[in-house]
Amino acid sequence: MSKEKKDLLSSDSILIAKHTELAKKLKKWDEEYHTNDDPSVPDHVYDEAKKQLLELEALEPLLVTQNSPSQTVGGKLAGGFKTIRHAMPMLSLSNAFADEDVIDFVGRIKKFLNITDNVAIVAEPKIDGLSCTLRYEQGQLKFAATRGDGADGEDITENVKTIRDIPQNLPSGVPDILEVRGEIYMRKDEFLALNQQQAEKGDKVFANPRNAAAGSVRQLDSNITKQRPLRFFGYALGVTSEPIAETQDGIRQKLKSYGFAQAEPIAVCNSVDELLAYYHRVEIERPDLPYDIDGVVYKVDRLDLQERLGFVARAPRWATAHKFPAEKAVTVLKNIIIQVGRTGALTPVAELEPITVGGVVVSRASLHNEDEIMRLDVRVGDHVIVQRSGDVIPKVVSVVSEKRQENSEIYSYPSTCPACGSHAVREDGEVVRRCTGGLICPAQAVERLKHFVSRNAFDIEGLGAKIIEEFYDDGTVKSPADIFTIERREQGSLTPLRNREGWGALSVKNLFASIEKRRTISLDRFIYALGIRQIGESTAKKLALTYKDIAKFRVEMQAAQDKASEHYLSLLNINDVGESVANDLLDFFAEPHNQQVVADLLEQIEVTDYAPVRATDSPVTGKTVVFTGTLTKITRAEAKAKAESLGAKVAGSVSAKTDYVVAGEDAGSKLAKAKELNITVLSEEEWLSLIG
Ligand code: IVH
Repeated sequence: MSKEKKDLLSSDSILIAKHTELAKKLKKWDEEYHTNDDPSVPDHVYDEAKKQLLELEALEPLLVTQNSPSQTVGGKLAGGFKTIRHAMPMLSLSNAFADEDVIDFVGRIKKFLNITDNVAIVAEPKIDGLSCTLRYEQGQLKFAATRGDGADGEDITENVKTIRDIPQNLPSGVPDILEVRGEIYMRKDEFLALNQQQAEKGDKVFANPRNAAAGSVRQLDSNITKQRPLRFFGYALGVTSEPIAETQDGIRQKLKSYGFAQAEPIAVCNSVDELLAYYHRVEIERPDLPYDIDGVVYKVDRLDLQERLGFVARAPRWATAHKFPAEKAVTVLKNIIIQVGRTGALTPVAELEPITVGGVVVSRASLHNEDEIMRLDVRVGDHVIVQRSGDVIPKVVSVVSEKRQENSEIYSYPSTCPACGSHAVREDGEVVRRCTGGLICPAQAVERLKHFVSRNAFDIEGLGAKIIEEFYDDGTVKSPADIFTIERREQGSLTPLRNREGWGALSVKNLFASIEKRRTISLDRFIYALGIRQIGESTAKKLALTYKDIAKFRVEMQAAQDKASEHYLSLLNINDVGESVANDLLDFFAEPHNQQVVADLLEQIEVTDYAPVRATDSPVTGKTVVFTGTLTKITRAEAKAKAESLGAKVAGSVSAKTDYVVAGEDAGSKLAKAKELNITVLSEEEWLSLIG
């Protein structure tokens, strides 16, 4: 027994006895209520006992044990929504800003599909709200979820049921399974009225309609959501048991007939000029639209072409968002601070006199890099123009030179790291200056930890950037593995987390629960979480697909250190892994400290094999394919993208590990090699029929 507990026992046995008695009663009543649906006491009796228990625990925090009824809430976990895995990932959109970007977008589509004719493209407003997917089964709303990280969203069914725009039953004749995707938003006039009401009540006012909509949807109590003026536009489909249309415009019309409101105006365009004309028209109409939009969206109209175009990373090739120009404001640059990123990159950040840009208060803005500061000749004390568009980080775009003070000094960029004092160097051809402190640099360590817990990595809820900084500074977490031992170290700690400022028993409990949830992680996320330079999500997935399990991956990363080995060659053979990426990866694993970080982590967690989310399995799933020669029906890019979307690995050269070589016209040495190794060679037609 701990010393504290002993002290408490002798000094305050009455307190303990009272707590034990209350805890026993509450447990019994909890069980009656939650498990048996048969409560023996009225709610107010229960509430009173619970209140007394919490008061005792506030007096004596040692009473807050894992078993206390204050820690075991019946029903859903306080503080969160259930997660729902999307049957089809919810993606985001690539962005276009300038006319050239739109020309490129259309050009890329035609090139990918290898067509010269015009492609019909639907243009529609880009609603500034939050996206949501609605699943209907047999015409009845089954559940609703937010986008979340694209793979898993939050279950907001109860809240969505309070939105009048969203039908709970669809007319007969709809497919048995129908997922409708769209945007939950708030009208501008209704937002203003809501804010007025909130202000009158002394409640929180929202920065803009989007924040108000998001805040309202994510209420744990759906009675609050019900009082908020939320609306919905349906603009796309998720999984459906049968097709409902052949074009995007057809989907829109069907959705309208099912009772889903549609944003206006829309246009089916046949050229870049028509798209740009639509864009400028909507830009003029924007202030008069009843809801906020932040651009327009272009989508290839024919669904069969959408299917062929597929996706790159997290966004479809067949759609893009053409954003409106960012809003700007003038303010004073108070200081330039240098942040150090997880790979040691020094990034200058402008500290500003706070200013409202597009309805949001901005006090920091990006200055990109050393060259940009030189180009702008921006100096501390200058009046600067700040620009902000949508979710993008605000940036300083120019200096108001007429307002410059006479004594202002040219900014001199540091040549040492502000966090650890090591030299910061800029290699030939690089725009970024990097700290050379590596492992001794605390800023890099903290940034690596932030990346480790971030959404697409370990995604530990409740362990955000601020808390990571706090934990790093007080020594609670110095290395990733430490995260998984906090709870164990808490026991017997003289300075337990729950007693620290800003923490309470419940928040600590929630944090531990979310850490526990992540003790199992898939290999792709694990690799990405390590924060290795140039290893983004998509490369991490390819590595995970190639090496399959963590043990093999670790062995290969050591074996490939020998650049004459076949291990190195097979690394280079992964589609999109060139020498530079391979070197960053191998450098990471050559470093003993990094090996230790990985080994320590594996003592705490389990890494599962990577299982790509795929709707259906195909005969090429898991197979390694090499394309060679000229393809005639589809382009090489389309062929590779399709193969990868079916879970195949696309390699650059033929080896014993190759399953198929797809040989187009004039195939040369790769075809010869395939024959020599007895590897199945397919013609383009055979390949197409194999993948269906
Ligand atoms: S289509 C696969 N259409 O913009 C693409 N998205 O920046 C599915 N959005 O996550 C999206 N208006 O929340 C589409 N008319 C519209 C939209 C729209 C707003 C949002 C959506 C998406 C985000 C991407």
